[in-house]
Amino acid sequence: MSNAADEIVRFDSVYKIFGPRPRGRAYELAKLGIGKNEVQRLSGHVMGLDNVNFSVKRGELFVIMGLSGSGKSTAIRMVNKLHEVTVGEVWVDGVNVQELSGPALQEFRREKMGMVFQHFALFPHRNVIDNVGYGLKVRKVPKDERDEASLRALALTGLEAYAYNAPSELSGGMQQRVGLARALAADPDVLLMDEAFSALDPLIRRQMQDEMLAIQNELHKTIIFITHDLNEALRIGDRVCIMKDGAVVQIGTPEEILTQPATGYVAEFVQDVDQGRVIQAHEVMTEPVPVTTDLSLADALAKVGDRTGAFVIDDAGKPIGLLTVADGLRAANVGSSSIESAIRNDFETASPTATLNTVYAKAGRGLPIAVVDDTGVLVGNLDPQLIMEEMGRVEQLIDGFEREVFM
Ligand SMILES: Nc1ncnc2c1ncn2[C@@H]1O[C@H](COP(=O)(O)OP(=O)(O)OP(=O)(O)O)[C@@H](O)[C@H]1O
Ligand SMILES: [Mg+2]
Repeated sequence: MSNAADEIVRFDSVYKIFGPRPRGRAYELAKLGIGKNEVQRLSGHVMGLDNVNFSVKRGELFVIMGLSGSGKSTAIRMVNKLHEVTVGEVWVDGVNVQELSGPALQEFRREKMGMVFQHFALFPHRNVIDNVGYGLKVRKVPKDERDEASLRALALTGLEAYAYNAPSELSGGMQQRVGLARALAADPDVLLMDEAFSALDPLIRRQMQDEMLAIQNELHKTIIFITHDLNEALRIGDRVCIMKDGAVVQIGTPEEILTQPATGYVAEFVQDVDQGRVIQAHEVMTEPVPVTTDLSLADALAKVGDRTGAFVIDDAGKPIGLLTVADGLRAANVGSSSIESAIRNDFETASPTATLNTVYAKAGRGLPIAVVDDTGVLVGNLDPQLIMEEMGRVEQLIDGFEREVFM
């Protein structure tokens, strides 16, 4: 897990209760472990956050996911003190945010934070570049420096050519990109994104996700990203924090969430997700045990052992053929002792980052798939059986949960 040095944001037992007496009876009830609905019924107070603990690592894309009303926006607003903490502490880069006020708080927000919202409001009477540079203008950054930073941010979001257009000349997706560019231009330590892509249609939304991941690869910002869409969360998150009724239900990598849902609630969510889109070839592949053409057919078959087959590699480690046990035995039966006569070269390859969905079709012939790196070198063996099992694994897990939890 994270240590203090590489964490930038930390929530320590944070409660946020809305109502006239937040630290009164409502808090007493919450401390006893009584849930949001019951607290509301008994005290008339709304639990925004219920003993929330998490920490975000520097450079991490941390996604908070949950249904409407689960407390996502409340959580993100505590990071820059748009909400006061009721009980607990929120730390950002060694600063207890609750203790900030006045100019120090303003400066903290300006220097450290960038925010992007679902409906990003642009100033209609300013052109794109001035919208992007607005935060810098507030910081009194000189115009030429400001424009330089704005153009850089616009280039990152693919909008350089629109710098001098009016916002009204841009599509919704492009306007949202301007919002992202504005947040990036100020070069904040932490980007807070609340449903930033939720209003976009699916295709544009996916493009935005890809672009953001590309930007993230380059800039390594710390991003807290809020979404109610588990697919989006699993697609972009380094880690995902699932919330329900103001409380954290599970924090984990996308794979952990998918394969080890902590509760029936998470399992139910996961059920709606196509895990084939998330799990990548390298997570399922096995160590390749390649053979070379200088072996005799019998020796090669011995090396293949009880696997379906093995790839034949050249001196550079690149696969040049596939020797399956079936082909090998067939060749041996007709009296051949050379491996060449049994090799087939109509095998499939995949990259380590290919998703299971994309290799699924290739697995259809029942032959192993060669996983090769950028240079074409064999790095893994994908057995069709393993792909099928992996695709079925989460379903089985959920079935198990349903038996446990819902029956
Ligand atoms: N200013 C407020 N006053 C009173 N209650 C509030 C306030 N802000 C939020 N809440 C309540 O706190 C809970 C969490 O709200 P929050 O806005 O954080 O949810 P969310 O997960 O962001 O939902 P959505 O997906 O709809 O944006 C809700 O029950 C909401 O009614
Ligand atoms: Mg919200």
